[in-house]
Amino acid sequence: MKNITVIGVGYVGLVTAACFADLGNRVVGLDIDEDRIAGLKRGEIPIYESGLEEMVTRNAGADRLSFTTSYPKALREAEFVFIAVGTPSGVDGEADLKHVRAAAESIASTMVAPLIVVNKSTVPVGTGDWVADVIRAHQPKPIPFSVVSCPEFLREGSAILDFMNPARTVLGSLDPEAAEQVAQLHLPLRAPIIISDLRTAEMIKYASNAFLAARISFINEIANICEALGADVKEVATGMGYDPRIGPHFLEAGLGYGGSCFPKDVMALAHMAAEKGRHPQLLQAVMLINDDRRRLLIEKVGELIGDLEGKVVGLLGLTYKPNTDDMREAPSLEIARRLVENGAQVRAYDPVGMMRAATIMPELIMAEDVYALAEGCDALVVCTEWNEFMHLDMERVHKAMRQPVIVDGRNIYDPVEMARLGFHYRGIGRGYGPDGQPIEEVQPGEVREQ
Ligand code: UGA
Repeated sequence: MKNITVIGVGYVGLVTAACFADLGNRVVGLDIDEDRIAGLKRGEIPIYESGLEEMVTRNAGADRLSFTTSYPKALREAEFVFIAVGTPSGVDGEADLKHVRAAAESIASTMVAPLIVVNKSTVPVGTGDWVADVIRAHQPKPIPFSVVSCPEFLREGSAILDFMNPARTVLGSLDPEAAEQVAQLHLPLRAPIIISDLRTAEMIKYASNAFLAARISFINEIANICEALGADVKEVATGMGYDPRIGPHFLEAGLGYGGSCFPKDVMALAHMAAEKGRHPQLLQAVMLINDDRRRLLIEKVGELIGDLEGKVVGLLGLTYKPNTDDMREAPSLEIARRLVENGAQVRAYDPVGMMRAATIMPELIMAEDVYALAEGCDALVVCTEWNEFMHLDMERVHKAMRQPVIVDGRNIYDPVEMARLGFHYRGIGRGYGPDGQPIEEVQPGEVREQ
Protein backbone atom coordinates (compact mmCIF):
# COMPACT_ATOMS: atom_id res chain seq x y z
CA MET A 1 0.00 0.00 0.00
CA LYS A 2 1.34 3.41 -0.96
CA ASN A 3 0.14 6.92 -0.10
CA ILE A 4 -0.88 8.71 -3.26
CA THR A 5 -2.26 12.19 -3.79
CA VAL A 6 -3.98 13.10 -7.04
CA ILE A 7 -4.22 16.81 -7.82
CA GLY A 8 -7.23 17.65 -10.00
CA VAL A 9 -10.25 15.38 -9.85
CA GLY A 10 -11.62 15.83 -13.36
CA TYR A 11 -12.05 12.85 -15.72
CA VAL A 12 -8.45 11.71 -15.58
CA GLY A 13 -7.74 12.58 -11.94
CA LEU A 14 -10.88 11.06 -10.48
CA VAL A 15 -10.53 7.83 -12.43
CA THR A 16 -6.83 7.61 -11.50
CA ALA A 17 -7.59 8.25 -7.82
CA ALA A 18 -10.44 5.72 -7.68
CA CYS A 19 -8.48 3.03 -9.53
CA PHE A 20 -5.30 3.39 -7.44
CA ALA A 21 -7.50 3.17 -4.31
CA ASP A 22 -9.15 0.08 -5.74
CA LEU A 23 -5.69 -1.46 -6.17
CA GLY A 24 -5.27 -1.12 -2.39
CA ASN A 25 -3.45 2.21 -2.05
CA ARG A 26 -4.46 5.07 0.26
CA VAL A 27 -5.43 7.92 -2.06
CA VAL A 28 -6.33 11.56 -1.46
CA GLY A 29 -8.02 13.47 -4.29
CA LEU A 30 -7.36 17.20 -4.17
CA ASP A 31 -9.08 19.92 -6.15
CA ILE A 32 -9.29 23.69 -5.71
CA ASP A 33 -12.98 23.54 -6.76
CA GLU A 34 -14.73 23.52 -3.36
CA ASP A 35 -18.16 22.58 -4.77
CA ARG A 36 -16.68 19.60 -6.57
CA ILE A 37 -14.91 18.35 -3.44
CA ALA A 38 -17.99 18.95 -1.25
CA GLY A 39 -20.05 16.95 -3.76
CA LEU A 40 -17.53 14.10 -3.85
CA LYS A 41 -17.55 13.94 -0.04
CA ARG A 42 -21.32 13.46 -0.30
CA GLY A 43 -20.77 10.73 -2.90
CA GLU A 44 -21.81 12.88 -5.88
CA ILE A 45 -19.78 12.11 -9.01
CA PRO A 46 -19.41 15.21 -11.20
CA ILE A 47 -19.01 13.26 -14.46
CA TYR A 48 -20.76 10.44 -16.27
CA GLU A 49 -18.35 7.51 -16.42
CA SER A 50 -19.43 3.92 -16.32
CA GLY A 51 -18.64 2.19 -12.99
CA LEU A 52 -17.02 5.26 -11.42
CA GLU A 53 -19.69 6.09 -8.85
CA GLU A 54 -19.69 2.57 -7.45
CA MET A 55 -15.87 2.48 -7.31
CA VAL A 56 -15.60 5.86 -5.57
CA THR A 57 -18.28 4.96 -3.01
CA ARG A 58 -16.76 1.56 -2.28
CA ASN A 59 -13.22 2.88 -1.78
CA ALA A 60 -14.34 5.94 0.19
CA GLY A 61 -16.32 3.56 2.44
CA ALA A 62 -13.18 1.44 2.95
CA ASP A 63 -11.18 4.57 3.93
CA ARG A 64 -8.85 4.18 0.97
CA LEU A 65 -10.13 7.25 -0.88
CA SER A 66 -10.78 10.73 0.51
CA PHE A 67 -11.13 14.22 -0.92
CA THR A 68 -9.88 17.61 0.18
CA THR A 69 -9.18 21.15 -1.00
CA SER A 70 -6.25 21.50 1.41
CA TYR A 71 -2.70 20.99 0.11
CA PRO A 72 -1.20 20.56 3.61
CA LYS A 73 -3.70 17.77 4.34
CA ALA A 74 -3.20 16.16 0.95
CA LEU A 75 0.59 16.19 1.10
CA ARG A 76 1.10 15.30 4.76
CA GLU A 77 1.68 11.60 4.11
CA ALA A 78 2.00 11.52 0.34
CA GLU A 79 4.78 9.49 -1.26
CA PHE A 80 3.54 10.06 -4.82
CA VAL A 81 1.74 13.17 -6.09
CA PHE A 82 0.00 12.82 -9.43
CA ILE A 83 -0.73 16.03 -11.32
CA ALA A 84 -3.92 15.55 -13.33
CA VAL A 85 -5.12 19.12 -13.83
CA GLY A 86 -6.54 20.48 -17.10
CA THR A 87 -4.29 21.83 -19.85
CA PRO A 88 -6.69 23.83 -22.03
CA SER A 89 -5.68 25.36 -25.38
CA GLY A 90 -4.21 28.84 -25.27
CA VAL A 91 -4.92 31.51 -27.89
CA ASP A 92 -2.50 30.10 -30.50
CA GLY A 93 -3.29 26.44 -29.91
CA GLU A 94 -0.49 25.98 -27.42
CA ALA A 95 -1.30 24.12 -24.19
CA ASP A 96 -2.03 26.54 -21.36
CA LEU A 97 -0.06 25.41 -18.31
CA LYS A 98 -1.45 27.77 -15.69
CA HIS A 99 -3.08 24.94 -13.69
CA VAL A 100 0.09 22.82 -13.85
CA ARG A 101 2.15 25.77 -12.65
CA ALA A 102 -0.28 26.44 -9.77
CA ALA A 103 -0.13 22.77 -8.75
CA ALA A 104 3.69 22.71 -8.90
CA GLU A 105 3.95 25.92 -6.84
CA SER A 106 1.54 24.56 -4.22
CA ILE A 107 3.41 21.26 -4.03
CA ALA A 108 6.66 23.18 -3.54
CA SER A 109 5.34 25.37 -0.75
CA THR A 110 3.55 22.60 1.18
CA MET A 111 5.67 19.46 0.80
CA VAL A 112 7.19 18.26 4.07
CA ALA A 113 9.05 15.12 2.97
CA PRO A 114 10.70 13.72 -0.19
CA LEU A 115 8.18 13.12 -2.98
CA ILE A 116 7.79 11.68 -6.43
CA VAL A 117 5.77 14.06 -8.58
CA VAL A 118 4.07 12.22 -11.43
CA ASN A 119 2.67 14.14 -14.35
CA LYS A 120 -0.50 12.60 -15.82
CA SER A 121 -1.82 15.64 -17.67
CA THR A 122 -1.00 15.89 -21.37
CA VAL A 123 1.66 18.56 -21.35
CA PRO A 124 4.04 20.00 -23.95
CA VAL A 125 7.32 18.21 -24.36
CA GLY A 126 9.73 19.72 -21.86
CA THR A 127 7.10 20.38 -19.18
CA GLY A 128 8.51 17.75 -16.82
CA ASP A 129 11.81 19.64 -16.68
CA TRP A 130 9.94 22.91 -16.21
CA VAL A 131 7.80 21.47 -13.37
CA ALA A 132 11.03 20.47 -11.60
CA ASP A 133 12.35 24.03 -12.03
CA VAL A 134 9.10 25.55 -10.71
CA ILE A 135 9.11 23.30 -7.65
CA ARG A 136 12.76 23.99 -6.95
CA ALA A 137 12.22 27.74 -7.26
CA HIS A 138 9.25 27.75 -4.86
CA GLN A 139 10.51 25.45 -2.11
CA PRO A 140 11.10 27.42 1.10
CA LYS A 141 13.89 24.95 1.92
CA PRO A 142 15.27 22.19 -0.34
CA ILE A 143 13.51 18.83 0.08
CA PRO A 144 14.42 16.15 -2.47
CA PHE A 145 11.87 15.24 -5.13
CA SER A 146 11.80 13.65 -8.58
CA VAL A 147 9.54 14.24 -11.55
CA VAL A 148 8.16 11.34 -13.57
CA SER A 149 5.98 11.60 -16.66
CA CYS A 150 3.22 8.98 -16.82
CA PRO A 151 0.83 10.02 -19.59
CA GLU A 152 -2.71 8.72 -19.46
CA PHE A 153 -4.31 6.79 -22.32
CA LEU A 154 -7.86 6.64 -20.94
CA ARG A 155 -10.86 6.93 -23.20
CA GLU A 156 -13.93 8.62 -21.81
CA GLY A 157 -16.72 6.11 -21.44
CA SER A 158 -14.34 3.23 -20.80
CA ALA A 159 -11.80 4.98 -18.59
CA ILE A 160 -11.90 2.48 -15.72
CA LEU A 161 -11.56 -0.45 -18.06
CA ASP A 162 -8.65 1.31 -19.81
CA PHE A 163 -6.93 2.11 -16.50
CA MET A 164 -7.22 -1.45 -15.26
CA ASN A 165 -6.26 -3.02 -18.62
CA PRO A 166 -3.75 -0.68 -20.22
CA ALA A 167 -2.08 -1.60 -23.51
CA ARG A 168 1.10 -0.21 -21.96
CA THR A 169 2.34 2.05 -19.19
CA VAL A 170 4.71 4.78 -20.33
CA LEU A 171 7.07 6.33 -17.79
CA GLY A 172 9.72 8.96 -18.30
CA SER A 173 12.19 10.38 -15.84
CA LEU A 174 15.75 11.49 -15.45
CA ASP A 175 15.75 9.58 -12.14
CA PRO A 176 15.65 5.83 -12.87
CA GLU A 177 14.89 4.99 -9.23
CA ALA A 178 11.82 7.22 -9.18
CA ALA A 179 10.64 5.72 -12.48
CA GLU A 180 11.12 2.27 -10.98
CA GLN A 181 8.99 3.17 -7.96
CA VAL A 182 6.17 4.45 -10.18
CA ALA A 183 6.54 1.27 -12.25
CA GLN A 184 5.96 -0.73 -9.04
CA LEU A 185 2.63 1.08 -8.54
CA HIS A 186 1.57 -0.15 -11.99
CA LEU A 187 2.75 -3.75 -11.66
CA PRO A 188 -0.69 -5.10 -10.66
CA LEU A 189 -1.97 -3.94 -14.07
CA ARG A 190 0.30 -6.49 -15.79
CA ALA A 191 0.95 -4.41 -18.89
CA PRO A 192 4.27 -3.74 -20.60
CA ILE A 193 6.04 -0.82 -18.95
CA ILE A 194 8.16 1.41 -21.15
CA ILE A 195 10.65 3.57 -19.31
CA SER A 196 12.30 6.43 -21.15
CA ASP A 197 13.43 9.97 -20.47
CA LEU A 198 10.92 12.68 -19.58
CA ARG A 199 10.65 14.32 -23.00
CA THR A 200 10.28 11.05 -24.86
CA ALA A 201 7.46 9.93 -22.56
CA GLU A 202 5.68 13.26 -23.07
CA MET A 203 6.11 12.88 -26.83
CA ILE A 204 4.74 9.32 -26.85
CA LYS A 205 1.40 10.70 -25.63
CA TYR A 206 1.19 13.42 -28.30
CA ALA A 207 2.37 11.13 -31.06
CA SER A 208 -0.20 8.48 -30.08
CA ASN A 209 -3.14 10.89 -30.08
CA ALA A 210 -1.96 12.62 -33.26
CA PHE A 211 -1.58 9.28 -35.02
CA LEU A 212 -5.11 8.19 -34.05
CA ALA A 213 -6.46 11.57 -35.16
CA ALA A 214 -4.57 11.17 -38.45
CA ARG A 215 -6.21 7.77 -39.01
CA ILE A 216 -9.61 9.38 -38.53
CA SER A 217 -8.86 12.22 -40.96
CA PHE A 218 -7.38 9.71 -43.40
CA ILE A 219 -10.53 7.60 -43.48
CA ASN A 220 -12.65 10.75 -43.70
CA GLU A 221 -10.67 11.81 -46.76
CA ILE A 222 -11.17 8.34 -48.23
CA ALA A 223 -14.91 8.73 -47.44
CA ASN A 224 -15.06 11.90 -49.53
CA ILE A 225 -13.37 10.11 -52.41
CA CYS A 226 -15.68 7.10 -52.00
CA GLU A 227 -18.68 9.41 -52.33
CA ALA A 228 -17.32 10.88 -55.53
CA LEU A 229 -16.46 7.49 -57.03
CA GLY A 230 -19.42 5.42 -55.80
CA ALA A 231 -17.66 3.17 -53.28
CA ASP A 232 -18.60 2.34 -49.69
CA VAL A 233 -16.15 3.55 -47.06
CA LYS A 234 -17.43 1.16 -44.38
CA GLU A 235 -16.46 -1.80 -46.51
CA VAL A 236 -13.24 -0.12 -47.58
CA ALA A 237 -12.31 0.23 -43.89
CA THR A 238 -13.22 -3.40 -43.22
CA GLY A 239 -11.10 -4.50 -46.14
CA MET A 240 -8.16 -2.38 -45.01
CA GLY A 241 -8.48 -3.42 -41.36
CA TYR A 242 -7.82 -7.09 -42.08
CA ASP A 243 -4.25 -6.22 -43.00
CA PRO A 244 -2.39 -6.64 -39.69
CA ARG A 245 -0.11 -3.76 -40.64
CA ILE A 246 -3.17 -1.51 -40.71
CA GLY A 247 -5.59 -3.02 -38.18
CA PRO A 248 -9.30 -2.26 -37.85
CA HIS A 249 -9.34 0.49 -35.22
CA PHE A 250 -10.03 4.18 -35.67
CA LEU A 251 -11.17 3.81 -39.25
CA GLU A 252 -14.74 4.95 -38.77
CA ALA A 253 -15.59 7.79 -41.11
CA GLY A 254 -18.02 10.36 -39.82
CA LEU A 255 -18.15 13.84 -38.37
CA GLY A 256 -14.52 13.80 -37.35
CA TYR A 257 -12.91 13.69 -33.96
CA GLY A 258 -14.04 15.85 -31.05
CA GLY A 259 -13.68 15.73 -27.29
CA SER A 260 -11.21 17.24 -24.90
CA CYS A 261 -8.11 15.48 -26.23
CA PHE A 262 -7.58 15.00 -29.97
CA PRO A 263 -8.44 18.55 -31.13
CA LYS A 264 -6.36 20.11 -28.37
CA ASP A 265 -3.43 17.71 -28.63
CA VAL A 266 -3.03 17.80 -32.42
CA MET A 267 -3.11 21.58 -32.27
CA ALA A 268 -0.60 21.69 -29.42
CA LEU A 269 1.79 19.33 -31.21
CA ALA A 270 1.60 21.42 -34.39
CA HIS A 271 2.24 24.50 -32.30
CA MET A 272 5.29 22.91 -30.65
CA ALA A 273 6.67 21.97 -34.06
CA ALA A 274 6.06 25.42 -35.56
CA GLU A 275 7.69 27.11 -32.59
CA LYS A 276 10.86 25.22 -33.37
CA GLY A 277 10.70 26.20 -37.03
CA ARG A 278 9.31 22.86 -38.31
CA HIS A 279 6.38 22.60 -40.73
CA PRO A 280 3.88 20.08 -39.39
CA GLN A 281 2.24 19.61 -42.80
CA LEU A 282 0.49 16.34 -42.01
CA LEU A 283 -0.87 17.65 -38.71
CA GLN A 284 -2.18 20.75 -40.49
CA ALA A 285 -3.98 18.55 -43.02
CA VAL A 286 -5.39 16.36 -40.24
CA MET A 287 -6.92 19.45 -38.61
CA LEU A 288 -8.21 20.95 -41.87
CA ILE A 289 -9.92 17.71 -42.87
CA ASN A 290 -11.46 17.41 -39.42
CA ASP A 291 -12.81 20.96 -39.42
CA ASP A 292 -14.37 20.37 -42.82
CA ARG A 293 -16.49 17.43 -41.64
CA ARG A 294 -19.15 19.67 -40.11
CA ARG A 295 -19.45 21.89 -43.18
CA LEU A 296 -19.79 18.90 -45.47
CA LEU A 297 -22.59 17.50 -43.34
CA ILE A 298 -24.56 20.76 -43.61
CA GLU A 299 -24.07 20.56 -47.39
CA LYS A 300 -25.63 17.08 -47.39
CA VAL A 301 -28.65 18.32 -45.43
CA GLY A 302 -29.02 21.17 -47.92
CA GLU A 303 -28.78 18.76 -50.89
CA LEU A 304 -31.71 16.77 -49.50
CA ILE A 305 -34.07 19.47 -48.18
CA GLY A 306 -32.97 22.57 -50.08
CA ASP A 307 -32.88 26.00 -48.48
CA LEU A 308 -32.62 25.59 -44.70
CA GLU A 309 -34.55 28.76 -43.90
CA GLY A 310 -37.60 27.83 -41.80
CA LYS A 311 -36.80 24.08 -41.89
CA VAL A 312 -36.91 21.98 -38.72
CA VAL A 313 -33.84 19.81 -38.17
CA GLY A 314 -33.52 17.27 -35.34
CA LEU A 315 -30.12 16.22 -33.99
CA LEU A 316 -29.87 12.61 -32.85
CA GLY A 317 -27.18 12.76 -30.21
CA LEU A 318 -25.18 15.73 -28.93
CA THR A 319 -22.16 14.40 -27.03
CA TYR A 320 -18.86 14.09 -28.91
CA LYS A 321 -19.13 10.29 -28.67
CA PRO A 322 -21.45 7.80 -26.93
CA ASN A 323 -21.26 6.74 -23.28
CA THR A 324 -20.17 10.12 -22.02
CA ASP A 325 -21.95 13.37 -21.17
CA ASP A 326 -18.97 15.37 -22.43
CA MET A 327 -19.82 18.13 -24.89
CA ARG A 328 -16.30 19.49 -25.37
CA GLU A 329 -15.59 20.00 -29.09
CA ALA A 330 -18.69 17.99 -29.93
CA PRO A 331 -19.38 18.18 -33.69
CA SER A 332 -23.10 18.61 -32.86
CA LEU A 333 -22.44 22.11 -31.52
CA GLU A 334 -20.83 23.35 -34.72
CA ILE A 335 -23.55 21.65 -36.77
CA ALA A 336 -26.32 23.23 -34.67
CA ARG A 337 -24.65 26.63 -34.94
CA ARG A 338 -24.38 26.39 -38.74
CA LEU A 339 -27.98 25.21 -39.07
CA VAL A 340 -29.24 28.10 -36.93
CA GLU A 341 -27.11 30.56 -38.98
CA ASN A 342 -28.85 29.23 -42.09
CA GLY A 343 -32.29 29.92 -40.61
CA ALA A 344 -33.23 26.39 -39.50
CA GLN A 345 -34.99 25.59 -36.25
CA VAL A 346 -32.84 23.04 -34.44
CA ARG A 347 -34.08 20.46 -31.99
CA ALA A 348 -32.12 17.73 -30.27
CA TYR A 349 -32.25 14.58 -28.22
CA ASP A 350 -29.37 12.91 -26.37
CA PRO A 351 -29.66 10.16 -23.75
CA VAL A 352 -27.33 11.91 -21.26
CA GLY A 353 -25.88 15.07 -22.79
CA MET A 354 -28.89 17.40 -22.94
CA MET A 355 -28.33 19.18 -19.63
CA ARG A 356 -24.74 20.07 -20.45
CA ALA A 357 -25.64 20.97 -24.03
CA ALA A 358 -28.46 23.29 -22.89
CA THR A 359 -26.00 25.35 -20.86
CA ILE A 360 -23.77 25.78 -23.94
CA MET A 361 -26.54 26.35 -26.53
CA PRO A 362 -29.67 27.52 -24.70
CA GLU A 363 -31.42 28.05 -28.07
CA LEU A 364 -31.51 24.28 -28.75
CA ILE A 365 -34.99 22.84 -28.25
CA MET A 366 -34.67 19.52 -26.41
CA ALA A 367 -37.03 16.60 -27.03
CA GLU A 368 -37.85 13.90 -24.49
CA ASP A 369 -37.13 11.03 -26.87
CA VAL A 370 -36.37 10.30 -30.52
CA TYR A 371 -40.03 10.01 -31.52
CA ALA A 372 -40.89 13.38 -30.00
CA LEU A 373 -37.81 14.77 -31.74
CA ALA A 374 -38.88 13.41 -35.15
CA GLU A 375 -42.34 15.03 -34.91
CA GLY A 376 -42.58 17.58 -37.74
CA CYS A 377 -38.87 17.45 -38.64
CA ASP A 378 -37.68 18.07 -42.21
CA ALA A 379 -34.49 16.15 -41.50
CA LEU A 380 -32.85 14.14 -38.76
CA VAL A 381 -29.07 14.28 -38.39
CA VAL A 382 -27.22 11.54 -36.51
CA CYS A 383 -24.45 13.26 -34.57
CA THR A 384 -23.60 10.57 -31.99
CA GLU A 385 -23.75 6.79 -32.41
CA TRP A 386 -25.62 6.02 -29.17
CA ASN A 387 -26.67 2.39 -29.00
CA GLU A 388 -30.35 3.24 -28.55
CA PHE A 389 -30.44 4.93 -31.99
CA MET A 390 -29.61 1.60 -33.62
CA HIS A 391 -32.78 -0.05 -32.33
CA LEU A 392 -35.49 2.46 -33.16
CA ASP A 393 -38.91 1.82 -34.64
CA MET A 394 -37.97 3.53 -37.91
CA GLU A 395 -41.50 3.27 -39.33
CA ARG A 396 -42.73 5.32 -36.39
CA VAL A 397 -39.91 7.81 -36.95
CA HIS A 398 -40.85 8.00 -40.65
CA LYS A 399 -44.52 8.70 -39.84
CA ALA A 400 -43.63 11.43 -37.36
CA MET A 401 -41.43 13.42 -39.75
CA ARG A 402 -42.60 16.17 -42.09
CA GLN A 403 -40.05 14.98 -44.67
CA PRO A 404 -38.44 11.53 -44.26
CA VAL A 405 -34.84 12.67 -44.55
CA ILE A 406 -31.94 11.22 -42.53
CA VAL A 407 -28.36 12.41 -42.72
CA ASP A 408 -26.34 9.85 -40.83
CA GLY A 409 -23.11 11.45 -39.64
CA ARG A 410 -21.98 8.22 -37.97
CA ASN A 411 -23.00 5.60 -40.53
CA ILE A 412 -25.14 3.68 -38.05
CA TYR A 413 -27.89 2.77 -40.50
CA ASP A 414 -27.91 0.54 -43.56
CA PRO A 415 -28.53 2.68 -46.66
CA VAL A 416 -30.42 -0.09 -48.45
CA GLU A 417 -32.75 -0.66 -45.48
CA MET A 418 -33.31 3.07 -45.10
CA ALA A 419 -34.23 3.34 -48.78
CA ARG A 420 -36.62 0.39 -48.37
CA LEU A 421 -38.32 2.17 -45.46
CA GLY A 422 -38.86 5.18 -47.70
CA PHE A 423 -36.26 7.52 -46.22
CA HIS A 424 -34.13 9.88 -48.26
CA TYR A 425 -30.91 8.79 -46.60
CA ARG A 426 -27.29 9.93 -46.82
CA GLY A 427 -24.49 8.35 -44.84
CA ILE A 428 -20.84 9.34 -44.92
CA GLY A 429 -18.83 8.09 -47.88
CA ARG A 430 -20.99 5.11 -48.55
CA GLY A 431 -23.71 3.30 -50.23
CA TYR A 432 -24.19 5.24 -53.45
CA GLY A 433 -23.45 3.92 -56.86
CA PRO A 434 -22.75 6.14 -59.85
CA ASP A 435 -26.53 6.45 -60.37
CA GLY A 436 -26.99 8.00 -56.91
CA GLN A 437 -28.88 4.92 -55.69
CA PRO A 438 -27.83 2.82 -52.67
CA ILE A 439 -25.50 -0.04 -53.56
CA GLU A 440 -27.41 -3.24 -52.80
CA GLU A 441 -25.82 -6.22 -54.53
CA VAL A 442 -23.67 -7.09 -51.51
CA GLN A 443 -24.73 -6.55 -47.92
CA PRO A 444 -22.55 -3.92 -46.26
CA GLY A 445 -19.84 -5.44 -44.13
CA GLU A 446 -20.24 -8.98 -45.53
CA VAL A 447 -17.07 -11.00 -44.98
CA ARG A 448 -16.73 -14.63 -46.11
CA GLU A 449 -14.25 -16.57 -44.07
CA GLN A 450 -12.50 -19.31 -46.04
C1 UGA B 1 -8.61 9.76 -26.61
C2 UGA B 1 -7.67 8.53 -26.75
O1 UGA B 1 -8.36 7.46 -27.37
C3 UGA B 1 -7.18 8.08 -25.38
O2 UGA B 1 -6.24 7.04 -25.52
C4 UGA B 1 -6.49 9.28 -24.68
O3 UGA B 1 -6.07 8.95 -23.38
C5 UGA B 1 -7.48 10.42 -24.59
O4 UGA B 1 -7.91 10.77 -25.91
C6 UGA B 1 -6.77 11.57 -23.93
O5 UGA B 1 -5.80 12.08 -24.49
O6 UGA B 1 -7.10 11.90 -22.77
P1 UGA B 1 -11.22 10.06 -26.05
O7 UGA B 1 -11.05 11.48 -26.51
O8 UGA B 1 -11.93 9.80 -24.76
O9 UGA B 1 -9.77 9.35 -25.90
O10 UGA B 1 -12.08 9.32 -27.12
P2 UGA B 1 -11.85 8.33 -28.38
O11 UGA B 1 -12.69 7.15 -28.15
O12 UGA B 1 -10.43 8.13 -28.68
O13 UGA B 1 -12.54 9.19 -29.54
C7 UGA B 1 -12.04 10.48 -29.91
C8 UGA B 1 -12.84 11.06 -31.06
O14 UGA B 1 -12.57 10.38 -32.27
C9 UGA B 1 -14.36 10.98 -30.87
O15 UGA B 1 -14.90 12.22 -31.27
C10 UGA B 1 -14.80 9.87 -31.81
O16 UGA B 1 -16.10 10.04 -32.29
C11 UGA B 1 -13.78 10.04 -32.92
N1 UGA B 1 -13.55 8.80 -33.70
C12 UGA B 1 -12.96 7.72 -33.12
C13 UGA B 1 -13.89 8.75 -35.04
O17 UGA B 1 -14.42 9.74 -35.61
N2 UGA B 1 -13.63 7.61 -35.76
C14 UGA B 1 -13.05 6.54 -35.20
O18 UGA B 1 -12.84 5.54 -35.92
C15 UGA B 1 -12.71 6.58 -33.84
